[in-house]
Amino acid sequence: MTIAIYPGSFDPITNGHLDILKSGSEIFEKVIIAVSYNVNKKGFLSVEERVELIKKSVKHLPNVEVDSFEGLTVEYAKMKKADVLLRGLRTSFDFEYELQLSQANNALNNDLKTIFLITKPEYNFISSSMVREILVNNGDISKFVPKAVEEYLISKRGI
Ligand code: COA
Repeated sequence: MTIAIYPGSFDPITNGHLDILKSGSEIFEKVIIAVSYNVNKKGFLSVEERVELIKKSVKHLPNVEVDSFEGLTVEYAKMKKADVLLRGLRTSFDFEYELQLSQANNALNNDLKTIFLITKPEYNFISSSMVREILVNNGDISKFVPKAVEEYLISKRGI
């Protein structure tokens, strides 16, 4: 069975992430979407909140598991017996970053392959920080995130 890990900060998960995840779930037997505690990014939502929102958004994908991890992605992948890292590419800017990340991961664990899926054009400009910016400025985020995420973020904005 080919197991893929889809790692990221998912703060919050967007429709773009969901599109990559859905395609990945059609290719691999099991995909684990894993929220990383990123030491370089100050979180907007807690890791627990992000995991909960992802769980609500992926109920229709039976071979998808939701988890979180600390430390190196390659170590987490080894622990989960994963063969593949799944990442999405939006633009050439993503490519430069992903190239380095993939090569660093490969230097740490030569057995782990990174597979890139191209994001659909309609999701090219979406990012988690863009969603957060629209939210704090009272804009409409409904087109960019799953329903459960929209509802949660709007309720949180009201607090
Ligand atoms: N749709 C929407 N947004 C997308 C996207 C897509 N298909 N693909 C990427 N993005 C956006 C994200 O929303 C995020 O936006 P933001 O910066 O505005 O929040 C941005 O692209 C990148 O986020 P993400 O894909 O979550 O990557 P990341 O850089 O936050 O984290 C990890 C990537 C977790 C895989 C990486 O940091 C990691 O492996 N960390 C663990 C430590 C480690 O092993 N490091 C590598 C060896 S040094």
